[in-house]
Amino acid sequence: MAREEERRRLRRDLHDGLGPVLTGVTFKADAAGNLIAADPEAARSLVAELRAETAGAINDIRRLVYDLRPPALDDLGLVGAIRQRAAHLQRDGVAIHVAAPAALPALPAAVEAAAFRIATEAMTNAVRHAGAGSIHVRLDAGTELRLRVSDDGVSPRDWRPGVGLSSMRERAAELGGSCTAGPGAGGGEVVAILPLGSIMITVLLADDHPVVRGGLRALLGSIDGLNVVGEAANGREAVRQAVTHRPDVLVMDIQMPDVDGIAATRQIARDAPGVAVLMLTMYHDDDSVFAAMRAGARGYLLKGAEQDEIVRAIRSVAAGEAIFGPGVAQRVLGFFSAPPPPEVPFPELTGRERDVLDLIAGGRPNGEIGRRLGISAKTVANHISSIFGKLQVADRAEAIIRARDAGLGLQGERLPGPGASRQPPEVP
Ligand SMILES: Nc1ncnc2c1ncn2[C@@H]1O[C@H](COP(=O)(O)OP(=O)(O)OP(=O)(O)O)[C@@H](O)[C@H]1O
Ligand SMILES: [Mg+2]
Repeated sequence: MAREEERRRLRRDLHDGLGPVLTGVTFKADAAGNLIAADPEAARSLVAELRAETAGAINDIRRLVYDLRPPALDDLGLVGAIRQRAAHLQRDGVAIHVAAPAALPALPAAVEAAAFRIATEAMTNAVRHAGAGSIHVRLDAGTELRLRVSDDGVSPRDWRPGVGLSSMRERAAELGGSCTAGPGAGGGEVVAILPLGSIMITVLLADDHPVVRGGLRALLGSIDGLNVVGEAANGREAVRQAVTHRPDVLVMDIQMPDVDGIAATRQIARDAPGVAVLMLTMYHDDDSVFAAMRAGARGYLLKGAEQDEIVRAIRSVAAGEAIFGPGVAQRVLGFFSAPPPPEVPFPELTGRERDVLDLIAGGRPNGEIGRRLGISAKTVANHISSIFGKLQVADRAEAIIRARDAGLGLQGERLPGPGASRQPPEVP
């Protein structure tokens, strides 16, 4: 397996390369220490050697790390990394074109690394063996990532696989995919199909507490089919990463510094609508549940949730379902089963003005209205002129007609109820 081969090489490099270098460094450091007083010149030259050897070791580490996962993948994304590599390979007389959809979905790290290595080897081969004038690299993603590298060179009928072709095949096979390579219609052609496994769900974590993020990452990382692709410590960062990584699911805290989880959710619903936001929060009051839902969150869980519950919620929102933890579900159901607030006539009036209008419609004179409501006749008069203005009526008679049509004043003895002064929730 390509991966096993890589491990072996890593072990060899660490054991035979870096190990001895660092051992040598410690001996030399001791020697320099011993010589400092007696022979400072010799000590100085040992220190210079130490510096050069350490710099060499740092280079080795960089190369090893690169082999594990090319840093360009994290810095530039798959397409950017392939373009960068193409620019390096390009030389006089060979043009390499890289085409890809504007936004690739978030890819599992293993698929990304395999696609990068296959593309790199295929481009290298086309440059080395085909004598091509132009090379085309094309990426497409659906339920699988499709990579095609074609050239316009001359190609032997039979490609005898060396390490390059074999490891391309192995890398694809390891991920349950395939890679075919050989002479095509115009020249050489390599096609790799890497399943994205609808099974693999990519997850981004946003929480301002590193401990919470660390715990969640460890938990989700231990579950098959979940792949944590990033972490954010505030809402702004969450939006940025959601837009670049396009994870299937973003697990989001509500209270975070800078931009909070609700505002971030609103922005993600606009800028990266395919990302399902699952709120995971300490709060479960109606306001935050509904604010989160209105902002576009697909689910809502409390931080005390069991791990099974969290994993189930992630899978559900990734599949397009809406999900509420048990405590939260009750609130949502309670909200919708409560009777709707009564429709209030003349929402443009204040509660007090509506009370006054009700009494006018009931045929009460100003003096009585003032007494009933415990306000002065002057205040009643002020309310009335304001009501006339808002209803655009010329006089009391017209106001009475409008009010009665709307159902006011019909029960002459009715006193304003406790809810009568409430403003309506929405203007119909
Ligand atoms: N684009 C291409 N056009 C023409 N021939 C090709 C092309 N790609 C591969 N080949 C042929 O297939 C052979 C095998 O390629 P492979 O990458 O496995 O080995 P290699 O490039 O020769 O060496 P290495 O193991 O270092 O990659 C090449 O030697 C070459 O003959
Ligand atoms: Mg090769």
